[in-house]
Amino acid sequence: MVISWLTPNYTAPAPASQVRYGLDPDNLDWLITNQDAFTYTIPAGYAKQNQKSPYPDYTSGWLHNVELRNLQPNTLYYYQCGDFSILPSNGDDYPYTPPTGRSGTLFFKTLPAVGKKLKEPLVFGMVADIGQNPDAQRSVLRLSQNDPALILIVGDDGYADCVGTLWDSFLNMLTGVSSFVPTMLVAGNHEVEWLSNATSLETQIFMSFEARFRMPQIAPGVITSAPYPPTLDANNKLCAPSKYQAGYEYGNSYFVYAAGPVTFLHLNPYSYTNTTSIQYRWLLSTLQGIDRKKTPWVVAVYHNPWYNSNTEKQNEFETIDMQATFEPLFYEYKVNLVMNGHVHAYERSYPVFQFVPTSDATAYVMAGTGADSVHDNTWLPQPIWSAYRNGSQWGTGSLTVKDDDTMTWQWHWNLDGILVSADEVTICNTHLGYPTYCYGYKYQCVARLRGINKAGWGTEAAQLMLNLTSEAAGTVASHMKIDRPNSKNNRTMLRNANGVLRVDFDVFGLTTEEEGSASAAAVETYLSSTNFVTAFGNGVTRASARCGKIKHGKIKF
Ligand SMILES: [Fe+2]
Repeated sequence: MVISWLTPNYTAPAPASQVRYGLDPDNLDWLITNQDAFTYTIPAGYAKQNQKSPYPDYTSGWLHNVELRNLQPNTLYYYQCGDFSILPSNGDDYPYTPPTGRSGTLFFKTLPAVGKKLKEPLVFGMVADIGQNPDAQRSVLRLSQNDPALILIVGDDGYADCVGTLWDSFLNMLTGVSSFVPTMLVAGNHEVEWLSNATSLETQIFMSFEARFRMPQIAPGVITSAPYPPTLDANNKLCAPSKYQAGYEYGNSYFVYAAGPVTFLHLNPYSYTNTTSIQYRWLLSTLQGIDRKKTPWVVAVYHNPWYNSNTEKQNEFETIDMQATFEPLFYEYKVNLVMNGHVHAYERSYPVFQFVPTSDATAYVMAGTGADSVHDNTWLPQPIWSAYRNGSQWGTGSLTVKDDDTMTWQWHWNLDGILVSADEVTICNTHLGYPTYCYGYKYQCVARLRGINKAGWGTEAAQLMLNLTSEAAGTVASHMKIDRPNSKNNRTMLRNANGVLRVDFDVFGLTTEEEGSASAAAVETYLSSTNFVTAFGNGVTRASARCGKIKHGKIKF
């Protein structure tokens, strides 16, 4: 756990970075002291596209990071931070980070142990594209109401856009939550902070993002190239280019950590992602190395959505580049869920691979609904991979891991007084053989076939499976699974030539009872149609089928 804070009044020498902590709020037994506080400077420039008046030079306060090691899992710790040799000017119990001196007594709870079964559900909070307006403050408040063990901020944090004082005010807004709940971030385009008049771009993109946060690091962050935003000309000042890619390696750019039973991958589309890039090679070796016995879940977090049917943020080159190389890895290594922001709207996909609904593929949620600026509520025609979308509400997400098999994703509206879950889906672990959307209906069909010899049964069975899945194309097909097509049923058929064929199948991955009923009805219609009977051909003279729902619940391949 890293405790980070800022002493806002810049005076030299730097105050010490000290954290006292312990298990008893009245007895903080342990003390860590570092002398490595630092500041950084943003040179004057232009903050936003076409903004004519520049912002002034900015020098940050002292930034402190203290790492607490060897903490016990699932344990409540109390702590104070500051420089304990400096007496506070008005008592020692400031609510959060004081100008000088020390904080009041705060607390945090560590995450459950990695590699152990959960004793109770584990909640992760998610928000993206926050900003600093009253709606954004409400988003931050709503995050804490779900009682998360960890918070994920999925890019475009405070929209400081090169204005250092806006970073200060954003983090002050966040501190009521982040002082108590571990908070992890990814880089959004508003963290690029391309400085229009910087003398050394290589050191100045992502400058505040690198300086102010201390994520788990593979290695210290390094900028290897910082090209001019390709969509702009020299007169078009822009701090946060939506379309951008640079060489930003390690540091807070991309990293991995385990949180209880989940491995989180934080990725960066604004750094290079092609197959020769450092990020790609790191991701591949990281995915190969994840021990799914210890962390059965893998969740990827990055800013820009591959699956987005809003009219906003379409065809951004870094998004296309990243999907082309990373998506096959996600599918191969069974990444369970992806969380994105960027578009100021909400959309959830069906499990999908390369734009085709695929039962055991990754599920994607885009929730850039933290509340900055205006809603993006203009949509393209809804694609077949799109399960649910909403562009009119602000909200935050929560991911509740129940056990190794099952977790629930929810998107909550920011309505006052009540916690509304506007979208909810149960996600099962494809690594353990479940479809991604694993709740649905189990059906049994009994087909009576006549006029066929025993030798043909195996072929006929295969034909039946094929016809079932191809006929019910689109969403229904993506939700269908024939149980054990080549074992028990085939043996039954071989024994009972000229008799009864029984086929069990699942219609799964349905987000609501209504959708489930509609998809199941479509399958039943097909099974009772003449298409089904004639599809047998091949020696079948008569066939009839009867199907019925036998079960509703979690379905495993
Ligand atoms: Fe963005």
